[in-house]
Amino acid sequence: MKNKAAQIALVLMPLLALCAPPKPPSSAKPPPAPAKEKEAELDAMILQLASLDAAVREETAAKLIQKGPAITDKLLAVRKKTPASAAAIDAILEGIWTVPGKRVAETLETLAAWDPRNPESTDRTWKTLTELRGKAVLFLEHVANAPGPRQAAARDALDNFRAVSRGESLFFEKAQCASCHKIGPEGKGTGGPDLAGIGNAAEGKAYQRFLVIGHQMSGADYLVESLLDPDAYVPPGYAKGTHPDLREDLSLSGDQIKSLVAFLQALGGKPDLASIQIPSSENK
Ligand code: HEC
Repeated sequence: MKNKAAQIALVLMPLLALCAPPKPPSSAKPPPAPAKEKEAELDAMILQLASLDAAVREETAAKLIQKGPAITDKLLAVRKKTPASAAAIDAILEGIWTVPGKRVAETLETLAAWDPRNPESTDRTWKTLTELRGKAVLFLEHVANAPGPRQAAARDALDNFRAVSRGESLFFEKAQCASCHKIGPEGKGTGGPDLAGIGNAAEGKAYQRFLVIGHQMSGADYLVESLLDPDAYVPPGYAKGTHPDLREDLSLSGDQIKSLVAFLQALGGKPDLASIQIPSSENK
């Protein structure tokens, strides 16, 4: 039996070479791409990889994901095109989710539901992270659809991600929140406070409210109150009565308000649908 590192290298190197983007042609006339052959070879590699013992497979999977999205895209594309390879590719993807100690799965779950518009974001990191988030969602969809140890966690993460996406489009489109609120580098609204980092700041704000009103309040409760009863607390420098009523003025449903809160949580914090309670009288 060869040592583990050698086994990994044996499978990984040709796989990476196969998945690499095509080199620019050196002469005027590029040779025709042997697409079919290349794909068959890739399938064979993947099947070989899947037949190795679990430890090797997992480590290879971890290395694959670190090598970037092109390879993972390829794996998913081959899986779709060649049903025969599905089981093998599932084994590789499952490997990515069970790599011990690497926290790849947790990172993906966090990434998928995290909004990159935090106060430290520059245009460049924002773009990169948005791209990464897209990739993370691809994986989540895959894992959420296949029985496995992380299926339930992946489904929760996807639910959160989808709520954040709905909230994000409400914020910028139908509800026009961005006409008053900017978020870090995005937007011009100055009628209300900059909401960058509000998902992280909400706990502290809830505690300040607790000191005044005398009953416990979570960060999620604070955000819900900000939307449903904006005059209950007005940050310094702003006037009462300026905030639109989300139900009366904007006719938003309880679910839409929930999605907006999930989006606000994702601004610097972790969205968690289970933590968001919309009072039933408001939930229409
Ligand atoms: C007409 C301008 C305006 C619009 C539109 C508006 N807001 Fe506000 N928002 C404000 C002002 C002013 C405040 C601060 C005063 C207050 O809380 O009423 C505020 C406060 C907030 C806060 C609390 C911020 C903090 O630091 O505590 C949140 C959260 C918020 N708005 C979310 C939203 C969302 C979500 C929407 C879209 C549904 C929205 N706002 C639409 C003006 C606006």
